[in-house]
Amino acid sequence: MQPQYIINFKTYLQGTGKNALELAKICEKVAKDTGEQITIAVQPTDLLYIAKQVSIPVFAQHIDAIESGSHTGHILPEAITAAGAKGTLINHSEKRMDEKEIKLCIERANKLGLTTVVCAPDPKTAGKLSKLRPDYIALEPPELIGTNTSVSKAKPDIIEKAVGMLDIGMPLLVGAGIKTNEDVQAGLKLGAKGVLVASGVVKADDQEAALKELVGH
Ligand code: G3P
Repeated sequence: MQPQYIINFKTYLQGTGKNALELAKICEKVAKDTGEQITIAVQPTDLLYIAKQVSIPVFAQHIDAIESGSHTGHILPEAITAAGAKGTLINHSEKRMDEKEIKLCIERANKLGLTTVVCAPDPKTAGKLSKLRPDYIALEPPELIGTNTSVSKAKPDIIEKAVGMLDIGMPLLVGAGIKTNEDVQAGLKLGAKGVLVASGVVKADDQEAALKELVGH
């Protein structure tokens, strides 16, 4: 099974508006050149026009557990589906939800055919949230997010622990501080099936070179 690379544009200016489209096209080019599975997670305001212009999967960074109606400022799952999203992150460290909301979001996303990546800050929470049967669990220790310290090198034990706590067959992704293919391979060796990466690619001076290094080409 090929590793899954999810590039999370977050709300970095380098991943916003026309910069987001340029980076999306770089991610598409690297995916085509290398044959690697690259998915991008973009802001809701960028989703529609990016999804129309790239062939790689485009995910939302968040959805709200709401039905259609009077929910000003929320993100309706049907809206991101209509915009062309193929999936969504849920419960990212920077957009935390309670378990009830996470469960509802997974149910709503499943009905719409959206792939769900539920984020967890630690192995215990990863094990608990895997019972809600998302498509992926993403383990991201918050204290390493945005740093140059890769979770796969600094905290290999939590990856091994998380793999052991997940329901059988539930793939684990890992993120936080991952910058190089060495970081990726270290995570894969511990049982991860892919990575979530943001600053190492989005904030790089040469985003294409950074992404090619990440995927090992
Ligand atoms: O969603 C992935 C993100 O939280 C990891 O951030 O900057 O450490 O790659 P970063």
